[in-house]
Amino acid sequence: MNQELSQAMSDQINKEYYSAFLYLSMANWCSAEGFKGASNWMYAQYQEELAHAQGLYQYMQMRSEPVNFKSIDDPSGSWDNLLDVFKKTLAHEQFVTESINNLASVAMRANDHAAYIFLQWYVTEQVEEEGNANDLIDKLTLAADNTNALLNIDDQLAARVFAAPVIPYLE
Ligand code: FEO
Repeated sequence: MNQELSQAMSDQINKEYYSAFLYLSMANWCSAEGFKGASNWMYAQYQEELAHAQGLYQYMQMRSEPVNFKSIDDPSGSWDNLLDVFKKTLAHEQFVTESINNLASVAMRANDHAAYIFLQWYVTEQVEEEGNANDLIDKLTLAADNTNALLNIDDQLAARVFAAPVIPYLE
């Protein structure tokens, strides 16, 4: 594999683990604030990010490429309210989308068709990731400070059940 691409793939694995850690931190905050449904949603998102990292890791194994693990930044934070949590989620997903798009561009420039095709799963996934956060921002903006509306949204978030994503090469 092209050296720049290999390093960028490796870096992406670290970014996915940071994403997992960030959402676990948000799950923890939501739980402490009494939003058990949002905590459940964030915990499922944490599991989703772990799967994203695993998918990239397995791909690198398949290609006999090394992975350079780095320490994960401190994800702990304090958020103003539930709307703020999802605004920060969207901002983070936009950052990840840019990173994935850059990665796909590196694969394209390296003429690595296999990696480029593999990365399309992640390109498509990011549309859903941003869409989910946007949807929740809309609902939470409408709810504003209405406690009943917020608890109703929290109940909806409690229904999320993690389903392992079907990522190419990830058994
Ligand atoms: Fe791994 Fe939320 O994108």
